[in-house]
Amino acid sequence: MWSLFFVSFGLLVGIGAQPTDKAAKQQNLDWWKTSVIYQIYPRSFKDSNGDGIGDLNGITEKLEHIKDAGADALWLSPIYSSPQKDFGYDISNFTDIAEEYGTLDHFDQLVAKAKKLGVKVLLDFVPNHSSDEHEWFKKSVKRIKPYDEYFVWRDGKIGPKGERLPPNNWLSVFGKSAWEWNEERKQYFYHAFVVGQPDLNYRNPKLRQEMEDVLTFWMKRGVDGFRVDAVNHMFEVANLRDEPRSGKAVPVDDYDFLDHTYTRDLNETYGVVASWQKLLDNFVAQHKTDGKLMILEAYTSIPKSMQFYSVGANPFNFMFIADLNQNSKAIDFKRKIDDWLNAIPEGKVSNWVVGNHDNHRVATRYGEKREDQLTLLSAILPGITVVYNGDEIGMVDRPFTYAETVDPAGCNAGPDRYHLKSRDPERTPYQWDATTSAGFSTSTKTWLPVHDNYKTLNLAAQKKDAVSHYKLFQATTKLKKTPVIQKGRTEVLLAGENVLAVVRRLSGQGTVTLLINFSDKPVKVDAKGWLNIPMKAQIYAASVKSGLKAGAQVKVDDVTLPGAASVILYSRA
Ligand code: GLC
Repeated sequence: MWSLFFVSFGLLVGIGAQPTDKAAKQQNLDWWKTSVIYQIYPRSFKDSNGDGIGDLNGITEKLEHIKDAGADALWLSPIYSSPQKDFGYDISNFTDIAEEYGTLDHFDQLVAKAKKLGVKVLLDFVPNHSSDEHEWFKKSVKRIKPYDEYFVWRDGKIGPKGERLPPNNWLSVFGKSAWEWNEERKQYFYHAFVVGQPDLNYRNPKLRQEMEDVLTFWMKRGVDGFRVDAVNHMFEVANLRDEPRSGKAVPVDDYDFLDHTYTRDLNETYGVVASWQKLLDNFVAQHKTDGKLMILEAYTSIPKSMQFYSVGANPFNFMFIADLNQNSKAIDFKRKIDDWLNAIPEGKVSNWVVGNHDNHRVATRYGEKREDQLTLLSAILPGITVVYNGDEIGMVDRPFTYAETVDPAGCNAGPDRYHLKSRDPERTPYQWDATTSAGFSTSTKTWLPVHDNYKTLNLAAQKKDAVSHYKLFQATTKLKKTPVIQKGRTEVLLAGENVLAVVRRLSGQGTVTLLINFSDKPVKVDAKGWLNIPMKAQIYAASVKSGLKAGAQVKVDDVTLPGAASVILYSRA
């Protein structure tokens, strides 16, 4: 059956222009247009020295996997010097590597090998905060200029009994007050995340310059762009107004207790992002490199996301995580996808985030029956696919007890609510094979436990199996390279109440159609009638549990979709 699949794939790629040698040598300014970005969580990817913690040499050793999976770029979650209070998102030196991950030399080796393989490298740029162990913060505590103003310091309030209180009611994303008293400076500092992550002050021009220098430092070391962390948290209103209550039934110190009108999505953010984008573009023009991608993390509304496009950057599209889930209906998916595609400015590139290190794994969020649905959907929709390491083999969350919990988001929530907040379940080591610690480490003790299911669920096994999540993933990354997916028109349609269809058409290059059955029971679809696609079609790829075979011919006016199945059809016409 898979030989049939490869025949059909041959048909798909045979058509359409291949880049000429001359074109290939030119600057590739928008290499990301229909790319697959693969997120690596360095701590959990591959341990090369047996200490139970992933590292840079481990990643370098496994780079062929990124290529083999068909991804175009990798994004490394933070690798910088850090006390690891938020597992690397608390940075004590923005231009050096965490000891346990390696050295700058190891980083250079990683980039050099990635370049040889033709894989782009994106770093995680964390502008909102540093670590409280950063030199800047230590000097800021001592009011040494210019560092005294690099952070958000405020006097406290005096309470009714003369006691000292935080300046206002703002809460940390990880729960409890966002203000921490510093005895030495005798002021509070603001931290949107953990106490060890003091917020940087973007109203200070010197700090802004320092952070631009950080971007330049890494561009000079050869990186192809940045994923920008928590960008919509960069500014808070200067008058420190209390935030209003959200009305949600959560404890008073839970972040969701308030509406974050004054600490998120402030307009000044867009000015800073515009200046970074200019910095990247100037670097590209000056050094004649391929384009540098900036892709931003902001869990926010569509209009606020679109504002990032208007300053030349790319906001992550989190709809598959934040707005849709395994209970969503075909019409919910259609509406959300339409809303995004209708809002995106002409000429801008869309993206579809399948999973990341902050959210439950896609196979867990969407459940066993639907775990391939987003692999297929993100592949057929126009633009960039963003996947998290392990998504390509269908890794699932590992349940954690409170005693095992190490993520500060979980620890802060306490024993009764940690399971609602902890991100440990989706961060367990990558499952390479059935050997010790899933081939992640030679040590049996790893920083987070390996999921029990690794003996059966692992990459090596899926490479051997004729049908697997991994083989399906490879088929979809290949599909993204075809002209019809790169340039074709996009239609998001319904084919009956329970079937979502995405049709891509390009004159002379064929038609690719995705059908997703949102019911758990089989449905019959007249895809010809509903979608007006050509009568002659074959299956290009289908969800693993559907039982549908790639290469099989399909009667388009009478397709039977098994319960919860997703299938991609290809027609030459
Ligand atoms: C982002 C990261 C998350 C981190 C937080 C604070 O949301 O993705 O992992 O905890 O920022 O840096």
